[in-house]
Amino acid sequence: MSCNLPVGVFDSGVGGLTVVKEIMHQLPKEEIVYFGDTARVPYGSKSKETVTAYSRQIIKFLQTKKVKAIVIACNTASAFALETVAKEIDVPIIGVVKPGAKTASETTRNGRIGIIGTEGTIRSGLYKEFLHEMDPALLVFGRACPLFVPLVEEGWIHDSVTKEVASRYLAELQEKDIDTLVLGCTHYPLLRDIIHEVAGDKVTLVNPAYETAKTLYDLLSSKDLLAQEEAKPDHKFYVSDGAEKFCIFANSILPCDIAQTKDVNIITFD
Ligand code: DGL
Repeated sequence: MSCNLPVGVFDSGVGGLTVVKEIMHQLPKEEIVYFGDTARVPYGSKSKETVTAYSRQIIKFLQTKKVKAIVIACNTASAFALETVAKEIDVPIIGVVKPGAKTASETTRNGRIGIIGTEGTIRSGLYKEFLHEMDPALLVFGRACPLFVPLVEEGWIHDSVTKEVASRYLAELQEKDIDTLVLGCTHYPLLRDIIHEVAGDKVTLVNPAYETAKTLYDLLSSKDLLAQEEAKPDHKFYVSDGAEKFCIFANSILPCDIAQTKDVNIITFD
């Protein structure tokens, strides 16, 4: 396997771009092939079987691009599919849940951690499981926030409606006296300002993207797969629908300009 092959990254839509941004920052030489399953977003309300089947198709597509590693930049797919698909492929693959749990366990001072995520991620209980492996004494409180993903996909990032929704979702977590809140869905860092306003200064927000990019660095380094090319990487973006809309959104988030996003018929990768 050559170190100058790209890294595959995928999500149900635009959320994974928050992870891409961090990878571009920490591993600027790595070329990224991104896939956003915009035709089938959201994943958060779907079953484990469906999300695993979708993840398999995307992984097959990414393998046609000869990726040297894969990052599941989606908490729901990390929670539902990572363990299963990792056994089916030779390419090294990581998710965002374990890195997010690690950061949260290192961040909390009072041992009371809130997790917000999709219905699937919260139902899976995987954050709690990892956190309790790290420290059984931690108190972990989960809250699904299903309206956040459509609000982000709609671009309502600084909207009063989004703030009202956030206030309702976070109210019960605030009663639990948490001092750390994991943004357990890759869409949520895009709502960071609003979530911070509602949660207040006493609550530290954890974005798993930082530790995920670090985990990717460690993984590539341990396998001697860190990119060596000095030339600017030629990132490529693919979606299952609405390439133009995605391209505009990506350009508003990422530190580089995405010239083009291509549509892929993902169901043919079965
Ligand atoms: N951004 C994804 C996550 O981290 C999925 C959101 C969704 O499709 O429901 O869970």
